Order: sequence, then C-alpha cells, then structure tokens
Amino acid sequence: MSILNKIKNYREEENRLKWEGSFADYLEIIKERPEVAQTAHSRVYNMLKSAGVEERDGQKMYHFFGEEIFGLEAALERLIEEYFHPAAKRLDVRKRILLLMGPVSGGKSTIVTLLKRGLERYTRTDSGAVYAIKGCPMHEDPLHLIPHHLRDSFYEEYGIRIEGSLSPLNTMRLEEEYGGRIEEMRVERIFFSEDRRVGIGTFTPSDPKSQDIADLTGSIDFSTIAQYGSESDPRAYRFDGELNKANRGMMEFQEMLKLDEKFLWHLLSLTQEGNFKAGRFALISADELIVAHTNETEYRTFIANKKNEALHSRIIVMPIPYNLKASQEERIYEKMIQDSDMAHVHIAPHALKVAAIFSVLTRLEIPKKQGVDVVKKMRLYNGESIEGYNEVDIEELKKEYPNEGMQGIDPRYVINRISSAIIRKEVPSINALDVLRALKDGLDQHASISEEDRKKFMNYIAVARREYDEIAKKEVQKAFVYSYEESAKTLLNNYLDNVEAFCNKNKLRDPLTGEEMNPDEKLMRSIEEQIGVSENAKKAFREEILIRLSAFARKGKRFDYHSHDRLREAIQKKLFADLKDVVKITTSSQTPDEAQLKKINEVVATLVDEHGYNTTSANELLRYVGSLLNR
Ligand SMILES: Nc1ncnc2c1ncn2[C@@H]1O[C@H](COP(=O)(O)OP(=O)(O)OP(=O)(O)O)[C@@H](O)[C@H]1O
Ligand SMILES: [Mg+2]
Repeated sequence: MSILNKIKNYREEENRLKWEGSFADYLEIIKERPEVAQTAHSRVYNMLKSAGVEERDGQKMYHFFGEEIFGLEAALERLIEEYFHPAAKRLDVRKRILLLMGPVSGGKSTIVTLLKRGLERYTRTDSGAVYAIKGCPMHEDPLHLIPHHLRDSFYEEYGIRIEGSLSPLNTMRLEEEYGGRIEEMRVERIFFSEDRRVGIGTFTPSDPKSQDIADLTGSIDFSTIAQYGSESDPRAYRFDGELNKANRGMMEFQEMLKLDEKFLWHLLSLTQEGNFKAGRFALISADELIVAHTNETEYRTFIANKKNEALHSRIIVMPIPYNLKASQEERIYEKMIQDSDMAHVHIAPHALKVAAIFSVLTRLEIPKKQGVDVVKKMRLYNGESIEGYNEVDIEELKKEYPNEGMQGIDPRYVINRISSAIIRKEVPSINALDVLRALKDGLDQHASISEEDRKKFMNYIAVARREYDEIAKKEVQKAFVYSYEESAKTLLNNYLDNVEAFCNKNKLRDPLTGEEMNPDEKLMRSIEEQIGVSENAKKAFREEILIRLSAFARKGKRFDYHSHDRLREAIQKKLFADLKDVVKITTSSQTPDEAQLKKINEVVATLVDEHGYNTTSANELLRYVGSLLNR
C-alpha cells in the first residue's frame, strides 16, 4: 500500500473512532463497558497484559516489550508485578512516583517511551478507549460530574468508584453553559498523543532560576482577564502545564532528582492526594502515572539529603539493571545499529557477539561458587549448557549478588566505539578484531573507569579475543567442510587407485597425458601417516584396504570413505591438515599456487554464501585463522 493510501486509511480510521455525545450517552457506554472508566494505572496495566504474557522457565515474558527490550525480563516482571499490577488494583503504590533506577544507557528511557507509544495506540482500541469532558484542556474524567453525595448510589448501580472532584473550570462551565444539567454536558472520546499533548506529558528541568512552575501547572492568561474580570475566574487560566496535559495518562519526569524542591512538592500532593494546586483555585484532581528515571549515584545523593525524606517515602524505586545475557546484548547492538546511520555497514559475523561477551563480563560480579569463574558464569547466564551445571546453579549464582548489573560497560559506549572503528577503517565492513581493538582503545578515553576496572576490562578484552579465536577456527573449518564430501571422495578415489596399482605392481595412467606412471608414494604416505601407519606396516594396511575393496565389489556394494573407519579418519585428518596449509599460505607473502587459490576461493565463496560474510570479511577471517594456525 502506498504511503498516501495509508495516510488516507489512517484518517478514515480516525473519523470512525471519533465519538461525541451527552453525559447520559456516556453512562450507557460505561454500563456496557465499565473498563472504559478505569484509572490511568489500570489502563497501563491492562495495556501491558493485553499484548500477551508467556511463561518460560518460570519467567514471565511480557510481549509488550518483546521486540524492543532485550534480556530484562526479570526486571520488567518485577516492575509490572510490584508496581503496575497493585497500582491497577487501586492499592497504595499507585500514589507513589515510579522511579526507574539504573545505570546509564540501560534502557530506562526506552521503557518509558514504549509505554507512551503503547498508550497512544491502546487508546485507539476498544478496551483502551478513554472519554473526557468535551473541550476540557485537562480531558477531565466525565464521572467527576457526579456530585460527591451521589457517588455511593452511583457505585451501587454501576460498580465503579469515582475519585476526584470536578475541576473549577468545568464547575463553572456546567453552570454557565449547561445551567447545571449534568446529563447534557458533552463528552467525547479522546486519543492520547504526546505531540498533541493529550494524556501524555514530558517534563525536563531547565535552568533552576528560570524554570517556572507554570510549566507544570499552567498559568494565568493575562489577555483574557479583562474579558472575565478576575484572575480567579478559571476561564482566565490556561490549564496547559504538563501535569494538566498528562491527566488520564502518564507523565514522564526526566531528571526528576535534579529538579528544584518547590517543584517536587507539587508532585508530592499530586501523587498522594491525587490533586495539585494551580493559581488561585481549589485543588485540581488529576489521575496520572508519574514515571521518573535516574541513575544510582544521583539517587544516593538524593536520599542522603534529609530534606528529601517526605518525597522519598512517596517514591517507588524499581531497578533497571543492564542485561546480563550475551546473546541478548547482541540483539541490542543489532537494533541500535539498525536505527543508526551505520545500517549499511557490513558487520562480520561474531563481531557483535565478541563485543557482547566483553560488555556482559564487565557487568558481572566475580562468582563465589566453587569451580565457577566469571567466564563460565557468563555462559551459564547466557543459557549455554555446561556439563555439571543446571538451573539450580544459575539461581544460586544470581542469589549471590541480587543487585548485579548496575555497573559495567554500557551499550551506547559499545556502539560509539563500533562507529569510530568504521570511520577509521574507511571500508564499510568491520570484523570482530576491529571491534575489540576499538573497545580497547576506547578504555583509555572512558572517563568514568577506575584504574582497577581498566585493568580488569583489558583482561576481559583478552578473554573475548580468545573466545573469538575458537569461533574463527571453527568457522573456517565449517566453510571447508562444505565442499568436504566432494574433496573426500576425490581424495579417496585417488588413494584407492594408487593402492590398487601398488599391490598389483601395476602402473597408473595419467588421465591427462595418458602417460604411464608409478603409484604416488608421497600421496599414499601423506594419508597413512595421519593415523600412524608406519613405513613397515604400510604394505599390510594397503592390502587390507584392497581386500575390503574387492569384498565390497563382490557383493555389488559401493566402497566409499565411510566403508573403512581408519581410512575415513585418515582422509579427514589429511583434509584438515591440507586446510591448515591452505590457510597458512594465504597469510604468507608468496603467491599461492593454482590449486590452493582455487580452494581459498571456494572457502571464501562458502563463507559469503552460507555464513553471512562478504568477500572482505571472509578474506580477513582466513588471514586471521592462518596466523592463528601459524603460531
Ligand atoms: N536491555 C535493552 N534492550 C534493548 N535496548 C537497550 C537495552 N538497554 C539499552 N538499550 C539501548 O541502549 C540505548 C540507550 O538506552 P536508553 O536511552 O533507554 O537508556 P537510559 O537508561 O535512559 O540511559 P540514560 O541514563 O543515559 O538516560 C537505546 O538505544 C536502547 O534501545
Ligand atoms: Mg535516559
């Protein structure tokens, strides 16, 4: 579908979803679908649940975060079970500010942004629908129209509890525009949108001297005072602060702990009593989720200050640690690269994996458990099976340090280093060694690393490098094995022809020139030596092979390289020894001969076609493995 069509569809959908009616009509709606009248917290919780929840190995996975947040299942489950779930049930936690605390670049802002975007979508669905008093700048809950003395009977009839009082503005409008007839007051369906400032607000502290409380609670509109005659006429007030605009939904407080105290007091009353003071009006009721985020240092400073005690007790702190699973870390990088201007760069297989191994290692505490070092722990956390260890061991390791993951190398640092490596290399291709080198070089520039950590981290680079060496060697072997069956067959036939000629004391005929020649002793020995057949034993070995061969022939069976175990082993070993030579040659300055060149090209082609390399990175890999084999 073209983008213009999509825009058109969106607009049509928008019109279809619109609804407007009287308060009486609205009551009909909530009679049928009481969930429409839910609180902000409950709406968020239901949104999270409605995306689907799955349980894997006793761990709840919320699909809502599925393709965006990686490796934080436990932290997210805790966030939902300890905050959103009880808050949705109107328990007291709802009256606390939710403070996500975690190390830099650990995904806090991303989580909040997901919640915001999620709510925007959710309010467009049936179960997430929100209705408000029409024309109210705060999208006030229509149920506030029900006078306090009638709320008990309302509860009896509708089963819905109403919190909060009608705002000064709507109290006045009810009198002036509707003559007090509540049932006629207009109600409309609203759709959250951060851009249009409906139901979603964001507050960032600016310069403390110039920061105005009006940013939060709105301000007098001086141009209309003359019209309405008084500053205390609510119509002369603009209810357009972030707290007003975020009513019914959520409000993000960036850098909350950096904020001036007087601002924080507004939050205190808002969270605790569900209302806040604006201008010269009675308290204004608001129902919104307040989410803030901070790092650990800032948080410690904040609670160390006695003056913040009252506020502190009204905050629920939820830790958002770094991901500790290497495979998930790799996905984080993949996502960040996709979202960046590096998306066109070829990243060789395993380049991100080694970076992930390194980052996770820097985040892990040294295990106390016998026989487990930090590398093994990294593997176990990553879900790799290691003989002698199981789930119970992993749980034990986790219990050793319940607050693990609050420090170490952050994803943004890794991505920055990768991009600087790309710039330096001048080819749009980068491999694991480039990445490790860039990470290592960067450690000197990383301001917040202590000397002790630097040493430790350098060591982890070496660990990641060793991991890579193993992976690289296996990778080249695998690529070689791709044409393995073919090569094995050729080599075997060649060997058998020679053995036959040797045992029968015949000559062989060169297939090209037709010339007669002696059996190729060098070739036969090069294979037999692989399995330790000595010069003295070679004749017996060759005769045994020949007997087996004719036995097969008599039964009409094909003799292939699986037909004789020791011979198979010899052929395999010979092929890998050849590989070693071939790869070694690529690193030497001398030009490889034709056959070797052919082999190299085959392996490169396999690496490109089957294993995700490009020619540059495949050749780099071969050269590197060659140098490893030369050591
Ligand atoms: N566990 C994770 N899953 C997916 N992406 C992650 C994760 N952790 C970090 N990221 C990515 O790292 C980048 C930084 O994350 P984000 O800005 O959300 O961190 P933050 O905790 O808000 O950091 P800061 O404290 O610096 O504000 C983002 O691109 C984010 O997508
Ligand atoms: Mg952030």
